Amino acid sequence: MGSTTHDRDAALSAAPGNYDFVVVANRLPLDRIEDPDGEVSWRRSPGGLVTALQPVMQKADGAWVGWTGAPGPAPEPFDEAGMRLVAVSLTAEDVRDYYEGFSNDTLWPLYHDVIAPPRFRRAWWDAYVRVNRRFAQAAAEQAGEGAVVWVQDYQLQLVPGILRAGRPDLRIGFFNHIPFPGYEIFAQLPWRRQIVEGLLGADLVGFQRQGDATNFLRACRRAAGLTTRGSLVRVPRSWRRDISANSVGRARTSRAAADDDRTVRAATFPISIDSEGFEAIARRPEVKARAAEIRQALGHPKTLLLGVDRLDYTKGIAHRLKAYGELLADGRLTSPEDVLVLVASPSRERVEQYRRLRDEVEVTVARINGEFGEVGSAPVHYLHHSYPQEEMAALYLAADVMLVTSLRDGMNLVAKEYVACRYDESGALVLSEFTGAADELGGAFLVNPHDISGLKDAIARAARISPAEARRRMRTMRKRVREYDVSRWADTFLDALHGGPVAAEPEPQMQV
Ligand code: F6P
Repeated sequence: MGSTTHDRDAALSAAPGNYDFVVVANRLPLDRIEDPDGEVSWRRSPGGLVTALQPVMQKADGAWVGWTGAPGPAPEPFDEAGMRLVAVSLTAEDVRDYYEGFSNDTLWPLYHDVIAPPRFRRAWWDAYVRVNRRFAQAAAEQAGEGAVVWVQDYQLQLVPGILRAGRPDLRIGFFNHIPFPGYEIFAQLPWRRQIVEGLLGADLVGFQRQGDATNFLRACRRAAGLTTRGSLVRVPRSWRRDISANSVGRARTSRAAADDDRTVRAATFPISIDSEGFEAIARRPEVKARAAEIRQALGHPKTLLLGVDRLDYTKGIAHRLKAYGELLADGRLTSPEDVLVLVASPSRERVEQYRRLRDEVEVTVARINGEFGEVGSAPVHYLHHSYPQEEMAALYLAADVMLVTSLRDGMNLVAKEYVACRYDESGALVLSEFTGAADELGGAFLVNPHDISGLKDAIARAARISPAEARRRMRTMRKRVREYDVSRWADTFLDALHGGPVAAEPEPQMQV
């Protein structure tokens, strides 16, 4: 876009690559698994992001830059599942300080409204800068002249700024999958200005909810002293960052003429799932048979309640268990007629807060089972595993009530997956109003998970819902999930990145 190679930052001076479309995400869509005999295999990595982007990448014939999920040297770029995969290597120290430290012990709790206390460590910040530079370098090597580069999520907020400085020819998008906090919380971050400046290297910064975009625009004004108009931020074109050392974001503040300024747009693009794909899996005869088998294994319960999360303190798992335990104690639910299946997939297990949460959840599950179980029947079936999509679809099909009780959640794709799988329009969703999904799924029983009495009432109502009411609620939710699927999300974002109008976001549904 009007730049020549000599404009580029020396640190990103590698010759442009061949790809017109490059995704940069913390994780590759596949994890590298090495068994004790040194045998290497690739497995789909956890989390909603992969679910969201894999179909888009396969269509676009693009390159995906990310980490394998294990420390150590990265394999050479290779093609897999219709994508060019470019692995970025992280040392054990990078994993500790950039991934477990700054990303998941500083930013994650901070951006989720300090549900857990964030820890601010300068060595972690240094690692974050170092690793973001490495991702930016890898992306620059793949991106052709004038390519579109789409950077994903909070782990890589400096990448747009580094790329902008080194490769001003690129069109750069950034999407934040998690919430963006209010300024009073964001302001705690010692490196708040550098983060804002890093994000403003993008042409378009996307968020899940309007509140997130509004919070970001406020951070642009307060942390970087910029002016905003509506959803637009004016950025002096003369901003050049010294990215040769650990001082990313040390912007020179000299202003260019106003007509030289760049404009960055902040807008809302609620992410979704491959709804059709999920429904197709749920319709497979073997998946339906597996759903029946699950119900049989649980003794044909009257109500099968289901929770599916990464084992994360943002998910409100303790609140859910408290409500369920009290419902059993009150006799409003009974065991073995009503049963809770709790899938809590292992996540970030070396971070202290996550270890503590696991202990807390496991003690609570044991307490409920000890109190209300009998020989041969347990009211909570706790599964600390990750499962393939087929098993998830079978669980969704088997479940009468889906429980999503997050205390803070960018979107929550599990809620949408459940709805996508309920093709017969049965089933009920209890959904926290603190999820992005709550803006779209008004057919759910919306709850404040902190209000245990309200949560109990909603679970009890959902468990005893009439088929007619379930159908009415599920139908409206299914319409939304089918219309606003992941390809619509990606198309809308990429159209806006190419200068198209930002499509009006889906009207929030009224609660049924
Ligand atoms: O959406 C938040 C997110 O951190 C994604 O970036 C990631 O794919 C997912 O959750 C799983 O987290 P992790 O990569 O830390 O296992």
